[in-house]
Amino acid sequence: MPRPIQIAPSVLPADFSRLGDEIRALEAAGADRIHWDVMDGQFVPNLTFGPDVVASTRQHTSLPFEAHLMVVDADLLAPLFINAGCSRLIVHAEACTHLHRTLESIRSLGATAGVSINPQTPHHIIEQVLDLIDLVLVMTVNPGFGGQSYIATMEPKIGKVRELINNAGLADTIDLEVDGGISAATIAAARTAGANAFVAGSALFKDPKGLAHAIADLRDRATAVATA
Ligand code: DX5
Ligand code: ZN
Repeated sequence: MPRPIQIAPSVLPADFSRLGDEIRALEAAGADRIHWDVMDGQFVPNLTFGPDVVASTRQHTSLPFEAHLMVVDADLLAPLFINAGCSRLIVHAEACTHLHRTLESIRSLGATAGVSINPQTPHHIIEQVLDLIDLVLVMTVNPGFGGQSYIATMEPKIGKVRELINNAGLADTIDLEVDGGISAATIAAARTAGANAFVAGSALFKDPKGLAHAIADLRDRATAVATA
């Protein structure tokens, strides 16, 4: 059974002074999980959430938390975010010298693991770790900031990742998630290319009709795409 369509709001655009309220609102609006864009100011030129911030919101929702670790030292930080309440850790292939070992370690701590690849990174970098992951995150912007434009030239790469997953017989266990510039204008193309999970930040928080409308509209647009 192929993996379902999932909408994973990024809290990067949220009001950080009211994160608990914002996360409760995202759950009420129909989010499937919360996507934490963790940035260390080294791997990317921005600094965001530490494990204590994540932990302080854990009580406000029953939704799963996934941490997108845009950090140079995933081995150091992954255990801290698992203890903070993240059930999925997404690490960048570009930052992990021993990616295979890092993914094994995340799983040994009881979390599921994902690999994220930046726009310049070829799809085949994940070929040797498909047995260790539950998600591939294809960046459709250069990481570091919300509100950027979707990079449509990533669509052929999304297709190649989809092919890798399907040819390995893992279409019912691995999510193909995209992150960056996902909106009503871009989600159908990303779905057509092969994604089934969608991180969105600014498109949700900027919708004048509210979070529930934004999430439902994205889900409807992705679901409407006929997949082969
Ligand atoms: C980039 C971040 C953003 C964020 C979503 O490092 O990962 O892609 O999640 O941002 P929007 O949806 O505003 O492009
Ligand atoms: Zn992200």
